[in-house]
Amino acid sequence: MAVSEYVEACLYDPDDGFYMRAGGGRAGGHSGHFLTAPEVGPLFGAVLARALDRWWAELGEPDPFPVIDWGAGPGTLARSILAAEPACMVSGALRLVLVEVSPAQRASHPGHPSVASVARVSDAVPEGASAGVVVANELLDNLPFDVVCRTADGWEELRVTVEDGARGRFSLVAVPASPEFVAGLPEVAAGTRVPVQRAARNWVAEARRVLGRGRIVAFDYGAETRVLAERAGRSDDPAAGLGWLRTHRDHDDGSWWLADPGSCDITADVALDQVQAEHRAEVTTQAEFLRRYGIDELVAEGRAAWAERSGIGDLDALRARSRLSEAEALLDPNGLGAFRVLVWPVGDDTAGHG
Ligand SMILES: C[S@@+](CC[C@H](N)C(=O)[O-])C[C@H]1O[C@@H](n2cnc3c(N)ncnc32)[C@H](O)[C@@H]1O
Repeated sequence: MAVSEYVEACLYDPDDGFYMRAGGGRAGGHSGHFLTAPEVGPLFGAVLARALDRWWAELGEPDPFPVIDWGAGPGTLARSILAAEPACMVSGALRLVLVEVSPAQRASHPGHPSVASVARVSDAVPEGASAGVVVANELLDNLPFDVVCRTADGWEELRVTVEDGARGRFSLVAVPASPEFVAGLPEVAAGTRVPVQRAARNWVAEARRVLGRGRIVAFDYGAETRVLAERAGRSDDPAAGLGWLRTHRDHDDGSWWLADPGSCDITADVALDQVQAEHRAEVTTQAEFLRRYGIDELVAEGRAAWAERSGIGDLDALRARSRLSEAEALLDPNGLGAFRVLVWPVGDDTAGHG
């Protein structure tokens, strides 16, 4: 089978997929498998709440103002946005739509008059009718991808077979890749292997169809396809690691991705050029994005509150101190701060604005 079918089954099989099982695939500190920016603490959502207010104002304060959190996981980002009480919420315009395929994770979504929790975006938002925002934190790296290998005279697609591999139950076999499959890929060195991210590319097109005007904002780790080829290195060994593909479970590496389907998260660095093939995005680092929307101000507030209340040691004091350590994690140039933020303006009147 195609690698994308295999990854789809491993992650999203209705019964056995890593994300679909009760308790499976949850982001989070204590109860989760991996830590995402919203799970670091409420600061990420507080900055995003400020960004939402700025974009809402630029759009002319539409009411309703749909903000779609696509791949919302357990809904932690939504909780932090609501707690920050942005003006778009206080005015009653905000409609937070949490789109999440996993029923187990939807069960954790907050019950709130401004929140809708759905499996598909079409269940809550009619196509093209809205002036709003689509947000996706660490969704694109979790969408199924295929794998191709550059040879001396063309491209081969790697597919999953049931033959025992050196590292477990399944292995990879190479077949000639169809021209449509590899159309648009850049030149990379012979022997290197790269992902083909059609689902992520299609997601951008789908998100664009949902909004009449506004922005699509995707946070994720990624690099250009050429860089991913170097990360994978050259190898004839089908059991060699790919560099840009990782597995996670319980805050640690999971098993070899072909060994134990459904047991762990399978994630690929996002090929930034591939997801922008049809529409170019503005690309910044997460640290730059958070600074643009006021993280430094929120940290200064936290520092002042900590200085005032550390002697009292109450909950407000602890929250203030936590803000400082959250900022450090979110801005870390070797960690979350280096993630990429891709912003696609949709409709004319938002293009070129901050
Ligand atoms: C890595 S988690 C990120 C969760 C959350 N955004 C966060 O940052 O903590 C990716 C989530 O996307 C969900 N997902 C994957 N494909 C999806 C799709 N097509 N529509 C909606 N949710 C999807 C998965 O079930 C999973 O909960």
